Amino acid sequence: MIHTVQDVIDELSVVEEDVEKYIRLNKIKVGKNGSLSEKSYQMLLDLFSSQVSKQNGYENDKPFYLLNGHKIEAKQKPVFESANNRISLFQDDAINFLKNLPAASVDVIITDPAYSGMNQRLKLGRGKIIGKYSDAGKNGAKWFEEFHDTEDNYKTFLQECYRVLKNNRHIYIMFDSFSLLSLAPIARDIFEVKNVLCWDKVNIGLGHYFRRRHEFILFASKGKRHLNSKNIPDVWKIKRVNSSQYPTQKPTEVFELMLIGSAEKDFVVCDPFLGSGSSAIAAIKSDCRFLGCDISDKSISVSKERVQQFLKSKTDIYQNSSALADDEAMTKLFLNGKSK
Ligand SMILES: C[S@@+](CC[C@H](N)C(=O)[O-])C[C@H]1O[C@@H](n2cnc3c(N)ncnc32)[C@H](O)[C@@H]1O
Repeated sequence: MIHTVQDVIDELSVVEEDVEKYIRLNKIKVGKNGSLSEKSYQMLLDLFSSQVSKQNGYENDKPFYLLNGHKIEAKQKPVFESANNRISLFQDDAINFLKNLPAASVDVIITDPAYSGMNQRLKLGRGKIIGKYSDAGKNGAKWFEEFHDTEDNYKTFLQECYRVLKNNRHIYIMFDSFSLLSLAPIARDIFEVKNVLCWDKVNIGLGHYFRRRHEFILFASKGKRHLNSKNIPDVWKIKRVNSSQYPTQKPTEVFELMLIGSAEKDFVVCDPFLGSGSSAIAAIKSDCRFLGCDISDKSISVSKERVQQFLKSKTDIYQNSSALADDEAMTKLFLNGKSK
């Protein structure tokens, strides 16, 4: 049987960049299409698997971080790490956070960015903002820091997502209607866009020129990868979270469904716009590891508390009941996990 460099990467879920670096330094012969001799294959397997069981910690006072079983120097220390090292939360700007992650270190990205463009459009009349937008946040004017969604910034964000994502993996990005029109086309230059899904919130919300009941989810891939199930519809009927504790808190089911489609046990799930931590709860429920980031103090304290409680007691303190609507296809997917 012929083994390849990709087999080592897949088998141990290690970082491609590091395997290639080791091959270069040790002048290991690599044949056509990345093929390896049996001896070189075993050598690489032994070397990288020996690192899998090590824990995160410090070495010569410098933090290191265990990612995909491979020890990397941490450019940034997580603000929270679960006792089993599977859940790590960072407080940073999304682009900085991604830049500090090694290439090809993440298995699936599920995220719901803060679009400042949409918030500009939420302004009514003399610049007043509807809902509770003006009640909270810094300077009494904002719910939370906005990501500056200029085309250039958004492109850099997507390029970083592409870099950190492994090959043959999926990404899900949430969009409102305005940002879908303005920013989603940029994703087509970077990822292979496979579909645009609709999250149907079942009941109408605020809005003029038709009241809002949905959001979009762009689904794309880096390389080729099938979905885990052929039975997932492209409209997801999931209700809003009632009296949510964090503005824009999404029901965990939205993220769970992304992972039902695209994750395997122990996959590294990444969300650079963490908010209340709904994606982290979805990752735990799906037996995945998780890397989350948000710029705001409130997000970090809410999601830290939420994750800690969930790991301790399996209770989600910020969403106490299922948001699944009465929809047979949806219910079946959640009952079966992966219904082929
Ligand atoms: C739409 S909310 C995410 C909500 C989340 N999906 C949930 O279910 O709670 C967007 C988040 O992005 C964060 N954010 C804004 N600008 C950011 C930036 N530059 N980098 C990282 N996070 C940012 C906000 O603090 C906010 O929590």
